[in-house]
Amino acid sequence: MEKILVEKSPPLKGNVRISGAKNSALPLLAASLLGTEDIILEDVPALKDVEIMCEVLTSLGAKVEHLDRDVIKINSSNVDKYETSYELMSKMRASFLVMGPLLTRLGKTKNSLPGGCAIGTRPIDLHLKGFKALGATIDVDHGNISAYADKLVGDKIYLDFPSVGATENIMMAAVMADGDTIIDNAAMEPEIVDLSNFLNKLGADIKGAGTSTIRIKGVKHLGGARHQIIPDRIEAGTFMVAAAISGGDILVENVISNHIKPVIAKLKETGCTVIENGDSVRVIATKKLNAIDIKTLPYPGFPTDMQAQFMALMTICEGTSVAIETVFENRFMHVDELKRMGADIKIDGRSAIIQGVKNLAGAPVKASDLRAGAALVLAGLVSEGVTEIENIHHIDRGYDGIEDKFSKLGAKIYRKTF
Ligand code: UD1
Repeated sequence: MEKILVEKSPPLKGNVRISGAKNSALPLLAASLLGTEDIILEDVPALKDVEIMCEVLTSLGAKVEHLDRDVIKINSSNVDKYETSYELMSKMRASFLVMGPLLTRLGKTKNSLPGGCAIGTRPIDLHLKGFKALGATIDVDHGNISAYADKLVGDKIYLDFPSVGATENIMMAAVMADGDTIIDNAAMEPEIVDLSNFLNKLGADIKGAGTSTIRIKGVKHLGGARHQIIPDRIEAGTFMVAAAISGGDILVENVISNHIKPVIAKLKETGCTVIENGDSVRVIATKKLNAIDIKTLPYPGFPTDMQAQFMALMTICEGTSVAIETVFENRFMHVDELKRMGADIKIDGRSAIIQGVKNLAGAPVKASDLRAGAALVLAGLVSEGVTEIENIHHIDRGYDGIEDKFSKLGAKIYRKTF
């Protein structure tokens, strides 16, 4: 079994380059099933989730080739399979994103219900509602979901919640439908804009991505393109919190600061200095961190994917902080682990009340999901002794070279096989 060990570290200092966004890479890889010419994706992060998505594409008949560590070439001209295996689907929820592209490209698709992080019930009703509106018939049977349609026809779709995955899946299904599709109350995340830009390069006609109304004019055929994936705003935010929690000074490079406005604002509230300069952001920690409150919301609100890392920070802020999680039902699994390290946290429904403590103490802990794992690494940096993190496959799903990047900033972090 592999574990990550973190020892109490000096203030982190130096530069770190942020990788391409996991949450853009996955839908873009799925969308690559739509084009019939060569597609080259640049700045693809080297992550377990990306590997799984590449395996899904290969299993469907696509040719996937690594041209470099972070450059992938995909050719989907021979894609003819419409079923994904349970084994691959159960490894990662985002594999469900192949459903929209397969439905529109082949007229049918069959997948098992998706897996992924255990952060609450994660239904797919909104994805299916969208497919149905476009004219697909949906069958659910023995844990499999099939969708098929002789022809998809554009329609007006209102999402009850601005789900990121549903917006992406419906966008991808609608690009080659007959006529116009309008998605209202669409998710506005930067990853949706990246997907729209990519699809438009392939020949799609999508307008409005990044707003709550997306308009898609169906086209007959999509070709190839070269596209650079946007920087990972959550990885960037994680290193910014690392600067704050460790009392350090980090220049985070390859960031779009507009994408992380709430993270910047909240770090400033703690008293840290945050300097935005072109595509980099420097965070200089303050000696005494003020308590802060956060409430997770769909973009442009505070990202749920940064809640756990901020909670790690709040455990040592002076005073009482509150974190309210509104996006997922069950995203406080890091709380018990942080408590094992000496944090003072109480849960009341969807709120966590965090009373800042003077010191944390290293302990054996378990990463319950990807961002919870990152929170434990951050807490480990300022905990007396050693923090031994188990279940690190969750961390590897979303952080490209986490120990290398942290080590270069001066963190005492190691990976060990037991
Ligand atoms: C994506 C991100 C994930 C992030 C999340 C919210 C990827 C690969 N993952 O996940 O890192 O935490 O956005 O920013 O991009 N919901 C429904 N019905 C549906 C779909 C979703 O009720 O059909 C609910 C979910 O249960 C959840 C909320 O909507 O409570 C948000 O989910 P969604 O935006 O769909 O997240 P994902 O796309 O799964």
